[in-house]
Amino acid sequence: MNLNVLFSPVHADELYFTDRNTVVIDVLRASSTLITALSNGAREVIPVGTVDFAVKVSGGMFGGQTLLGGERNTKKIEGFALGNSPFEYSKKIVENKSIVFFSTNGSKAIAKAKFSETLFVVSFSNLSAVAKHLLKMKKDVEILCAGNNSFFSLEDSVCAGMLIGEIKKHNHSVQLSDSSAAAFTLYERFGTNIFETLINSEHGKKLVENGFEKDVEYCSRYNITNNIPFFNGKALTLLKQDKVKTNVLSK
Ligand code: MLT
Repeated sequence: MNLNVLFSPVHADELYFTDRNTVVIDVLRASSTLITALSNGAREVIPVGTVDFAVKVSGGMFGGQTLLGGERNTKKIEGFALGNSPFEYSKKIVENKSIVFFSTNGSKAIAKAKFSETLFVVSFSNLSAVAKHLLKMKKDVEILCAGNNSFFSLEDSVCAGMLIGEIKKHNHSVQLSDSSAAAFTLYERFGTNIFETLINSEHGKKLVENGFEKDVEYCSRYNITNNIPFFNGKALTLLKQDKVKTNVLSK
């Protein structure tokens, strides 16, 4: 089992992902928000690469059951029903809804990796469940960090390193690429206090400045759910597993 980390989506083009097994990480905040939305009963989330496409896609869908969600520069986009705070995606709001979702880095990373053979979304909140699933699959994995406007982001890289650590614990023959080894080392250095790491990261500081400190704390929670968003070629839904869905906001 080979593990490779891409520290930003700019490190590969769309075709790179063809036939690969990919996990996408955008700790602050898209991964956490998408996991929350699906855990709280959203029927599906359609991640898109541009705001224009989000509006176009939602226009062709059944009005009352569709919500537009996401952010630009951390703020809710004009005309969208929801921003990118996981707290907006409560059961009451999202249950049985299709959500068309755009975010600066996260949805774009998912859209870029859309040709993957399998594509999952991971964050600290579902990390062990994803590690367990990847161990069962026994396939090589590309870990795609959404990054920060095409640049490196510490929180995504530390989360990638933690995922690698969890897999390594149970499979001693795992092969790490140079970038995986680097991510694992970052996790060893910055992974002991996830909240501290997030709040001191560039994006964490920006979220605090914009009034989203509570979101940063929420995004730092570890293993609060076993739910795994899975991309079926069109939309993200929850991977069918034995465990029942949980309302993660209530934890
Ligand atoms: C993104 O996709 O860039 C983020 O989720 C931005 C944010 O924190 O809203």
